Formats: sequence, structure tokens, C-alpha cells
Amino acid sequence: MSSLATHLILVLVTIYVSFTNGAPKSSFFIYRYDLEGIKNRPVTRQVHPMILARRSLREMTGQSIKDEELMSLFEAARWAPSHFNTQTWRFVYAKRGSKYWDQYLDALSPGNRKWAKNAGVLMVVLSKLTNNYKGRKEPVPSHSFDTGSAWMAMALEGTARGLVVHAMGGFDPKKAADMIGLKSKEYRIEAMIAVGIRDKSVGPEKTTQRNEVEKFISEGIFTEKLK
Ligand SMILES: Cc1cc2nc3c(=O)[nH]c(=O)nc-3n(C[C@H](O)[C@H](O)[C@H](O)COP(=O)(O)O)c2cc1C
Repeated sequence: MSSLATHLILVLVTIYVSFTNGAPKSSFFIYRYDLEGIKNRPVTRQVHPMILARRSLREMTGQSIKDEELMSLFEAARWAPSHFNTQTWRFVYAKRGSKYWDQYLDALSPGNRKWAKNAGVLMVVLSKLTNNYKGRKEPVPSHSFDTGSAWMAMALEGTARGLVVHAMGGFDPKKAADMIGLKSKEYRIEAMIAVGIRDKSVGPEKTTQRNEVEKFISEGIFTEKLK
């Protein structure tokens, strides 16, 4: 199918979804897909194009992110699945130009700082390690897993909007904890995230590949096939 036809179908699906889920009608115009990313990711089975379009891009313009758009990213994270619906994810953010911005940038590793300085928003993602169950504090074994789901939902929403949403493990955890005022041991800082407006004038952008499906699945009994 041509990329134009693919795009048309995606636009129609978006219009249909916008009509049926109560979203404002203007939302027809906010979704766009990264066709370049899709083209450079050959699949062996059919998957939704948005899965392929999501990439950890670094090329950003240095423009701000609209509050409305930022809140939609959090809304996407909100609807992630979690163990007993515990919703362990927490996000702390700094907008470009705010009084928090320099500290967030400084918490990143030098390599990440180089490109993440062009983001519109920087975030710290935390997970809460415990839950109150019938008045008792209980550990949530899947706190990281659940928060990972929320991050991915956010990344996909950002992808559909043509934004860069890039997770980073390269940061100083002590600096990050201090700057967000985290004192409690009940939370784990999982990652930082850069969100920005894509700069399409810089290219070519990186497209990573993956192990084959057969290498990471086993039927019945686990077998490690990746050496
Ligand atoms: C938890 C996590 C930490 C990451 N840390 C960094 C990082 O510090 N710097 C960076 O440039 N990319 C980082 N990445 C992006 C990965 O390198 C990227 O997801 C991977 O290479 C696959 O590429 P793709 O996301 O474009 O498909 C991180 C991704 C995740 C999920």
C-alpha cells in the first residue's frame, strides 16, 4: 500500500476515534505519523504502524511544548494497565525556560545533555514501591513494570503527535532526587524523559533494528536463544 493510502487510513481512523471517545473535534488535526521511521523498520508480521513509528529521536528544535499537549502525554500515561490498578507511576517535570530547567539539564549525563538541551520538557519518572491495601502497606512487585507501561503509553501518544519522546537512563540519580525534593525511600527513580518538537531539518535520524521474534520467544519451556 502506498504511504499516501496508509496516511489516509490513519487519518480516517483518528477521526472515527475522536468522534467516539468524546475528544474535542479539533483533535483530527493533531495526529501525524512518522512515515520515515515506519519505512526503515521491516517487519516479519503485521503490526500497527505507530509501534514502528516510535523512535528515540534526538533532533529537536528547542521550542516549547504547549501545556495542552504535555497534559495529553500525561493523560496517555494515566490509562496504562497496572497490578491491581495500583498506578505506581509518578512524573515530575520541568518546562524549558522555567526556574527548574537548568537543574534538570544538569542532572543528565554529558552525552544526553548535548542533545536534550533542545527539548521542550524534561521529566523524571518515578515508581512507588508500595501500596496501601486495606490499611496495610504492601510491596508492589511490578512497580517498575507498571511504570514502564505508563512511559510507553506516553511515548506512543507523543509519537502519534509527531513529538520526540525519548527515555534516558543516563543521569545522576542523586542530583535527580535532590532537584525534585525526593526524600522518601518509597519511590524509585526509573528514568528521565526528554520531550520536544522534532527538528526534521537535521538528518538522517537514527532508526534502530531489533532481534528476530523467534529469538526471544519460547513455547512452554524457556530457552535462551540470544547469546
Ligand atoms: C530506560 C531507557 C533508558 C534509555 N537511556 C538512554 C540514554 O541515556 N540516552 C539515549 O540517548 N537513549 C537512551 N534510551 C533510548 C534507547 O537507546 C533506545 O530506546 C534504543 O536504542 C532503541 O531505539 P528506539 O527507541 O529508537 O527504537 C533509553 C531507553 C530506555 C527505555
